[in-house]
Amino acid sequence: ASYDMGGHDTYMHKEISEQAEAVDRVLRGRIDDRFSTVHLGGLNLDPREARGIRRVKILGCGTSYHAGLIGAGLIEGMARIPADAEPASEFRYRNAVVDPDTLYIAVSQSGETYDVLAAVQELKRKGARVLGVVNVVGSAIAREADGGVYVHAGPEVCVVSTKCFTNTVVAFALLAVHLGRIRDLSVTDGKRIIEGLRKLPAQIQEILEGEEDIKKLAAEYAEAKSMMFIGRVRGYPVALEASLKLKEISYIHAEAYPASELKHGPLALIEPAMPTVAIVPDDDLLDKNRAALEEIKARSGRILAVAHREQEKADHTIVVPKNEDELDPILMGIPLQLLAYHTALALGRDIDKPRNLAKSVTVE
Ligand code: G6P
Repeated sequence: ASYDMGGHDTYMHKEISEQAEAVDRVLRGRIDDRFSTVHLGGLNLDPREARGIRRVKILGCGTSYHAGLIGAGLIEGMARIPADAEPASEFRYRNAVVDPDTLYIAVSQSGETYDVLAAVQELKRKGARVLGVVNVVGSAIAREADGGVYVHAGPEVCVVSTKCFTNTVVAFALLAVHLGRIRDLSVTDGKRIIEGLRKLPAQIQEILEGEEDIKKLAAEYAEAKSMMFIGRVRGYPVALEASLKLKEISYIHAEAYPASELKHGPLALIEPAMPTVAIVPDDDLLDKNRAALEEIKARSGRILAVAHREQEKADHTIVVPKNEDELDPILMGIPLQLLAYHTALALGRDIDKPRNLAKSVTVE
């Protein structure tokens, strides 16, 4: 399919720029202010069943897997159900124990990724309950699942996912509030998150308006041969996704580590030629994250921080607007999409169609 680029040079740029409207769409009609909760029409899970869930297992590939990692944190944090995410391809080959009290969630932009579909089919055959968090309406995974949440990001053409990633994480936040309000999330916390969700479109727009500054940074970082991305807890999947985005479209080697793991190996790589992008939200882990910046600075590493205020140990800080702690990862990923984009552009890459990659992988 080919869609109008709407004045943008690439689909990726168009899709990054559309994120405020896209987030508005995934929220629309789903918030219930009276009960400070969220309604999801297609979930097909009644409150009694929702109370019986003992674990949540999220499955996806690539960027959708990363969105699932953030989703697991949101569900565990708000609904207090143990939750984790795993690449669908790994899950389906390790003969995992399929447990009737686990809720399985398959994540996919296209709804056609073979490894995800095969995992869903195997789970269904074993009697598991599977939900989909899917963008393409009526796709194979959406049809196979027992119910789910549509992501409503709209068509995504660029091979690498941007707006669908953001919308998928927002969809998980909605699901987390929904499950949380059936379980232990208080009315006031439900209200707090809902208010945070409503602020997202304007805050995303504000980040996008900082594009020129990010473009200047990209010109500098495009010279790197290799880059490190670090974050902690909520920030770690943001680092994973940002490093994936950079390597996919710029072909610069990038890896992501939990900031706390630096000292167990990767610190050996730190030197001026290996810049680090650090996710540094203003939350309960701020001091811990700052300590990691100091460790890097002590080894003459260059640092680009994404934070809620200037970080003095960093060479550059991209300051993003603060939301609720739980929702900050949604915003912190966005400037790093632009960083990857402008880095790839500076290097003259084929941004919408990176070499060796496909938009949806419908074979094994
Ligand atoms: C391919 C694409 C990625 C995408 C992944 C999963 O590898 O290049 O951008 O994240 O498939 O795709 P899905 O449609 O299942 O989200």
